[in-house]
Amino acid sequence: MNELNILVAAAKTDFGQAATPADLENAKALFLGKSGRITEMMKGLSALSVEEKKSRGAAINQAKQAIESALNLRREALADTELQAQLQAEALDVTLPGRQRGAGGLHPVSLTLERIEAIFSSMGFEVAQGPEIETDWFNFTALNTPEDHPARSMHDTFYVEGGSATAPNLLRTHTSPMQVRHAVQHVKKHRAATGADTAGEGLFSGAMPEIRVIAPGRTYRVDSDATHSPMFHQCEGLWIGENVSFKDLKFVFTDFCRTFFESDDLVLRFRPSFFPFTEPSAEIDIQFQGGPLAGKWLEVAGSGQVHPNVVRNMGLDSEKYIGFAFGMGPDRLTMLRYGVNDLRLFFDGDIRFLSQFQ
Ligand code: PHE
Repeated sequence: MNELNILVAAAKTDFGQAATPADLENAKALFLGKSGRITEMMKGLSALSVEEKKSRGAAINQAKQAIESALNLRREALADTELQAQLQAEALDVTLPGRQRGAGGLHPVSLTLERIEAIFSSMGFEVAQGPEIETDWFNFTALNTPEDHPARSMHDTFYVEGGSATAPNLLRTHTSPMQVRHAVQHVKKHRAATGADTAGEGLFSGAMPEIRVIAPGRTYRVDSDATHSPMFHQCEGLWIGENVSFKDLKFVFTDFCRTFFESDDLVLRFRPSFFPFTEPSAEIDIQFQGGPLAGKWLEVAGSGQVHPNVVRNMGLDSEKYIGFAFGMGPDRLTMLRYGVNDLRLFFDGDIRFLSQFQ
């Protein structure tokens, strides 16, 4: 039947040209829909004789099936194309190198601070944190530092807004303000505990637990070269009690240094010095007996017996309470421990340098 073959061929062509499933359904309607060509032909059968109906009907059915199978083939092809497009759009390029999550680690100075805290904690010291923006009182005046002391000059200290005209706030030049800050809090807390002396006025001479504290943190001075950075670290130490002497300072600091550097034969030297807030005062030098620095004296801390004026500024009776303080440089300790020769390396943030400590 030529006419039916032509119809099937036309359907195949139309289906082939349908670019989307919607186009295809429209094309289908032309042939198989309610008033499509095949449906119309079926309706025409009623006018034929029984014999003709049989053969004509079979032929139309064959054509219908051919059209239906062409339709299904095209449906599958279009669904396949759609799936491929979707897969392509959502494709992951698995050949890209993975995004690495490098193992992080602590900064070498942080490692030192953790080490210092662990050692002093084992000796019964608390760890306290103080503010980096400090008042003139805590940074200088309470520490017995006179008005004309060079440390107070603009060349040495970063002054900031706040405070009064004659006593502006500043970036703390050392961690020593924590001596008085911490002690005042300590005294306040234990004053209430002793019934005899609850007024809060005058100097405290009652009984209280000893003050034993270290205060690590950032400090600031107008200073910058291979061994000085405008921001650097210090760690203060303070031990105040009724019978704490220079002998205790020597023992505590020697024990600390030997533990820190894991060296039992490390030698310490207490070299007479001056600080307004300690009397007597000493610089503490250490000497390694082996390794590249063997025999050299290296300064690691300032120290001394806390000045009676400072003890009184803590709110304590200086006839009853006495003790020592020290202030060391964790940056310096880190340089010595790892053999680093330029302080600025610690603050440049170069990953090639920092990753060596992990
Ligand atoms: N604050 C002193 C400094 O920065 C160090 C120090 C601390 C000295 C405590 C004595 C006692 O140099």
